[in-house]
Amino acid sequence: MKRILPVAVIVAVFISMIFIGYKVSAVSASDWYERADLKSGGLLYDKWFKLTGSKPEGTHPAYPAEGKQSGDSTWRCKECHGWDYVGKDGRYGSGSHFTGIPGLLDSRNKEPEALYSALSGTGSPHDFSKEINEDFRWALVKFIKEGQMDMRPYLDKSGQAKGSVTAGQALYGKYCEKCHGADGNAIDFNGKREGLQGVGFLSNDNPQESLHKIRWGHPGSEMPSMVTDAGLSDQETVDILAYSQTLK
Ligand code: HEC
Ligand code: HEC
Repeated sequence: MKRILPVAVIVAVFISMIFIGYKVSAVSASDWYERADLKSGGLLYDKWFKLTGSKPEGTHPAYPAEGKQSGDSTWRCKECHGWDYVGKDGRYGSGSHFTGIPGLLDSRNKEPEALYSALSGTGSPHDFSKEINEDFRWALVKFIKEGQMDMRPYLDKSGQAKGSVTAGQALYGKYCEKCHGADGNAIDFNGKREGLQGVGFLSNDNPQESLHKIRWGHPGSEMPSMVTDAGLSDQETVDILAYSQTLK
């Protein structure tokens, strides 16, 4: 009897731990999803290693050999899936960023668990579990489901935004001018090209990138998200882009 009692207690504790553990894991996926931060998701999609602080080394193993990019930029979600979220079917369908990889817009309809699995573990197209923590991977899942927008109906063939310049000007004055200046050139983005590159330059050169930044902000900066911080509609973010394209 003296020997059986402790064994019984251990077995009982062990069994209840299995039950508690099971319960926790059964509710956790939706809990993780609920508390995931949408804005972080948008910023991570742009350049996750600005948020994690650990730069990846070399070229991403899933980056196609015939692709023209190399190094850490090939680890950015946008590099393979596009600023417009439609990969090979959009802006990255040709040119120096072509990979032939599809976008994630249609993946919006998938279950959060399925999207999380695509970022985690063996069998996924890319296992980011070593580079990106669980919180951030769930934030990416939330962005894929709730943050993407189909930009195509809002841009004409030349990339001109279909929005109200007047409404955009008022929003620009309220949300952007204090940092970027009335002419959009107070901050020089210092891209690879010569000359000053401000809001007007980028909004004309790459409207899809500019729209993503307007919606989510710029990783590693104080720039606010017009979706989560300002609560603007899709059309209002396009209006800001339309006004930005008038800046020189
Ligand atoms: C080097 C290229 C590359 C990078 C970088 C990349 N992906 Fe992918 N991704 C792929 C490929 C290839 C697939 C498989 C596409 C297919 O099904 O044909 C994929 C598939 C996915 C899927 C599954 C889609 C579905 O509908 O099942 C998700 C979700 C995803 N990627 C999210 C991301 C996120 C988030 C990032 C950034 C953290 C990222 N990807 C970065 C290449 C990349
Ligand atoms: C609190 C200051 C602040 C506000 C407000 C702000 N931005 Fe920014 N923005 C920045 C900073 C800082 C950067 C990063 C510049 C850099 O390092 O290249 C940036 C980056 C950008 C970029 C991308 C540059 C690149 O290199 O890709 C665009 C486009 C942009 N901002 C447009 C806007 C617009 C439009 C608004 C208003 C909706 C806005 N910003 C509001 C500070 C701000």
